[in-house]
Amino acid sequence: MKALSSILFHAIHGIEKRIITIRQDLHAHPELSGGEERTKYFLKGILEAEGIEVHESDHHFGLIAQIIIDPDKPFIALRADMDALPITELNSLPYISRNEGIMHACGHDAHTAIVLGTAIALNQIKNHLKNNIRFIFQPSEEILEGGSSQMIEEGALENVKAIFGLHAYPYLPTGQIGYKKGVMLASTDMFEIEIFGRSSHAARPHEGVDAILVTAMAVNSLNHIVSRQIDPLHPAVISLGTIEGGRAANVICDHVKLQGTVRTVNHDVRRRIPEMMEVSIAGICKSMHADYQFHYNFGIPELLNDDAMVEQVIEASSTVIGKENCIDLIDPVMGGEDFGRYLETVPGAFFRLGTCNKAKETCIAQHNSRFNVDDDALSIGMKILGLLALKEI
Ligand code: NI
Repeated sequence: MKALSSILFHAIHGIEKRIITIRQDLHAHPELSGGEERTKYFLKGILEAEGIEVHESDHHFGLIAQIIIDPDKPFIALRADMDALPITELNSLPYISRNEGIMHACGHDAHTAIVLGTAIALNQIKNHLKNNIRFIFQPSEEILEGGSSQMIEEGALENVKAIFGLHAYPYLPTGQIGYKKGVMLASTDMFEIEIFGRSSHAARPHEGVDAILVTAMAVNSLNHIVSRQIDPLHPAVISLGTIEGGRAANVICDHVKLQGTVRTVNHDVRRRIPEMMEVSIAGICKSMHADYQFHYNFGIPELLNDDAMVEQVIEASSTVIGKENCIDLIDPVMGGEDFGRYLETVPGAFFRLGTCNKAKETCIAQHNSRFNVDDDALSIGMKILGLLALKEI
């Protein structure tokens, strides 16, 4: 493995500068979920010029690239997400976003550049590959529908035996990675509640049904579900993000709409929460003579890493940065990531790539208008993914 790793690292050192330029170009041209058109054609051009097989879709701007050494062999898949966020960039960088109101504030520019660089490097040392390698460039990670389901429906996981992905992580310094066995990130669901009352003069509340008061009671009771109906050892979050209702200060409100999100790290808890919510809302509405509508949208599953695959990530990372720089993140976080959908079908692992470098001001949280990644982390990401792809499966 030692000799093979130095062959890989040599190839990566040869393209590192170019990949940094590509990352910065992607950063300057961010595109929203579902609109990754320039990103797609930019990648396609580079991959094809390298002689790497590329497949496009008629339905979205995602791409599949492949290196096939033997059609009978299985694939190892590496995945990158391509989309940016509706945020106005406030960095002062030579490669600041040129698309107003859109920004790579989650590091997907880095993920795309890393997986692209890994593809180029592996293609250069193709005769050392033991498996076929598939590179999944996925659109629309930032939206609930998630581009991963489109990629999977179109066959991205066909004949795949293992899948790996990474995410830039400003909470660890460049030169470290974070791993987590088992559940790493939460399931992400959305819901919408409408409460229907009956309007009347605000001075004659007994003649109406006050949708605002019913909503207040419903909000209260929803906040009791996690604290009183779910095992405290199973983390869950029910958060309301929007509330709209009422027309005038002197009219009893007849309609309120609420929207929110549910996060869990446990299948069973996730399955039970919508019912608990509806029972609670229905009971309150009945007691107050109000009506309701409840829509629950199951979004992204929890991200469940395969323990053996996490061991492979640790082993590969140890070769690149030393075991002491592989950090056990211990606790899951309640954020979501649609990589979880791939892991429902195929064993694999997702890990965090440290990108914090104080001197370069890259320690700012994701989704912040001053977020950026340290380009020195790109070659670390390429080396780790490259080593994982070179493993015999
Ligand atoms: Ni992200």
